[in-house]
Amino acid sequence: MLRRLHHDQPADFAFTPANLAWAKAQMTKFPEGRQASAIIPLLWRAQEQEGWLSRPAIEHVADMLAMPYIRALEVATFYFMFQLQPVGSVAHIQICGTTSCMICGAEDLIAVCKERIADRPHVLSADGKFSWEEVECLGACTNAPMAQIGKDYYEDLTAESFGRILDELAAGRVPQPGPQNGRYASEPLSGLTSLKEFESGRTQHNASVARALALGDTVRRIDGSEVPLLTPWLGKGARPAAKAPAAKTPAAKAAKPAAGATAKPAAKPAPEPAIAAGVAKKPRSLKAPRKGGADDLKMIKGVGPKLEALLHSLGFYHFDQIAAWGPGELAWVDDNLEGFRGRASRDGWIGQAALLAAGGQTEFSARVKKGDVYD
Ligand code: FES
Repeated sequence: MLRRLHHDQPADFAFTPANLAWAKAQMTKFPEGRQASAIIPLLWRAQEQEGWLSRPAIEHVADMLAMPYIRALEVATFYFMFQLQPVGSVAHIQICGTTSCMICGAEDLIAVCKERIADRPHVLSADGKFSWEEVECLGACTNAPMAQIGKDYYEDLTAESFGRILDELAAGRVPQPGPQNGRYASEPLSGLTSLKEFESGRTQHNASVARALALGDTVRRIDGSEVPLLTPWLGKGARPAAKAPAAKTPAAKAAKPAAGATAKPAAKPAPEPAIAAGVAKKPRSLKAPRKGGADDLKMIKGVGPKLEALLHSLGFYHFDQIAAWGPGELAWVDDNLEGFRGRASRDGWIGQAALLAAGGQTEFSARVKKGDVYD
C-alpha cells in the first residue's frame, strides 16, 4: 500500500503541555546522543493527541529528537499503525480481514463500513465522525470476526451488532468492548469443557474488558493529563509530575470536522513546562572558574563562543561540571539555553564532557586542536 502524507495539512502542531512533559520524559530513557530511539513513542503520542500524524507533527517530533525530517518520515510512513490522514472525529474503525475473521464474516463488517462510513477506507464519513480501514490479524482470532475501535477490541461481531456499536458511538456513547455474543472471553462457543471449577469464580468481565471500562478511554484522544507522569527509571529523586492543565478535550475538538476537512491546527503551545515537571533540576554551578581558569568548552561539539558565554553566565566553566549532570540537570540546562534550547541533549554534551574531563579527546576536540574548526 502506498503511504503518503495527506494532501491537506494543518499549519502547525504542538503537544499539549502535559504531553510535552511526557514526551521529554521519554527521551530521558535513552543514553545521551540516542534520543532518536524515542521516535515511536513520541509519534504515537502525537497521534493519540490528534488522531493522526500530520507533516507538522512528524517534523515537530523530528526537531525534538534532533533527527533529519526524512528519518522521522521514514518511520511514520513505514508503520501502518500511524495514520497519515485525518481520521473520524469519534472513531477510526479497524476491521481485521485476515483468515479467521474473513471466514467468520469480516466481509459483512466491511460492507457495513462501506455503507455507513465511506465506500473507501481512510475516507471520512459525511459527518466526519468515522473512518475505517481493513487491517491484518489483530491476534483475537478465536473471537473472529472482530474490529479494533480506538484502543479496544470488539469481538464476535455480526453485521447487526457492529451496526449497533456504530449507532452507540455516533450518539456519543461508548459500548462495552470485548465479545458481543455473550461469551466471557475466548472459551469455546459451546461453553467450557475443562477447568469448569473456575467458572463460578469469574469476575463480572474478563480482565481486558474490565480494564477498558476502568480506563474509559476507548475512543478518547489523549492530552496527557489523564494520569500523573511517573518516571521511575530516573530513580528515587524523581517525583511524579504535577498535574498539567488539561487541554481542550479532543472530544470537543473532534466533534467538528466536516467531510474531507483536516483536523484543526493545534492551539499554540503554552510555554514549555520545565522538562517533565518534577524532573528538571538546576545543576550545581560556580560563581567563577576554579584556579587555573575555565576549560575551553568550545571543545564540546555544539558549543560555540555564544554558547560558551551563556554557559559561563549560568555558572558552568569546567568539563567535569557538565559530565556530572544527570537527566534532571540536563533537562534544566536544555530548557535554559536561551535561543539554543535542547542543544545539550541533542549534541550529547555530557558524554563528550566526560571524555574531555578524563583527559581524553573526542574526534571533534581533536579537530579543534588541529585548527580544523573555525568559530
Ligand atoms: S484473523 Fe482476525 S484477529 Fe486474527
